[in-house]
Amino acid sequence: MPTDTKTLPEAIHRAAEQIIESERKLVIKAYGVIHSTEDFMRGFIRKVMDRFNRIDLAPAVEIIVKELVMNAAKANFKKIFFAENNLRHDDPEHYERGMVGFRDVIDENIFVDYGRKAREAQLLVETSFDFDKDRVIIEIRNNTRMAPYEEKRVREKLQRGLECTDMAEFLLEHMDETEGAGAGLALCIITMRSAELDPRLLTISTDDDGTIARVEIPLHAGYPPVRSRWQEAMAG
Ligand SMILES: Nc1ncnc2c1ncn2[C@@H]1O[C@H](COP(=O)(O)OP(=O)(O)O)[C@@H](O)[C@H]1O
Ligand SMILES: [Mg+2]
Repeated sequence: MPTDTKTLPEAIHRAAEQIIESERKLVIKAYGVIHSTEDFMRGFIRKVMDRFNRIDLAPAVEIIVKELVMNAAKANFKKIFFAENNLRHDDPEHYERGMVGFRDVIDENIFVDYGRKAREAQLLVETSFDFDKDRVIIEIRNNTRMAPYEEKRVREKLQRGLECTDMAEFLLEHMDETEGAGAGLALCIITMRSAELDPRLLTISTDDDGTIARVEIPLHAGYPPVRSRWQEAMAG
């Protein structure tokens, strides 16, 4: 878990207020995940949701953003870990060994230690908040692309969340899974559903520049998300 006792300077909080006031886009760049960044994001989400009278959605958005940011940071750390140990992603035997080793490292103080390494390797996590009165669009990018097995895992986990109709049952089954055991994305989907958000508005895609997790939060019933507009256009 992140360990950092430093708090963010007051100036940053003031800048965040101004961004919300003028409805500009906020982009946060980070290499690791430290408490102060996490706290800042949580506070920012609360302020944005409050401004648009949807404070009810803040807990769901916080849970989802935290999970997606963690996943993005871990993906970058995993790349560093594999490189440090001369392991190749595309070799099944290397992959098996790498994942076992990586899980051990995750249990330790990975977020500070690997945050430093990620900075050296210029592997970053960029979180952007784009908002207006209709919707909030949050994108979390990490600049490593997904390996084919990761894309497969993402698809499986999202699907598992879509298929799960009973949150209590899901939690009972997965409660004892530690970070890295693969319950986070399914939980994001379930969280969206229980906040009455369309879970298909959470997408994860990858290209040569890296991986993007995107979540769109409509703020009122009258707003059609980009996805459904696109579907309407396709239907003519
Ligand atoms: N940004 C990302 N880049 C690469 N792989 C990812 C990313 N996000 C998720 N994944 C893949 O999806 C898997 C499932 O994620 P998740 O459900 O959060 O489980 P966990 O984080 O516990 O492994 C991850 O283990 C990883 O293989
Ligand atoms: Mg996760």
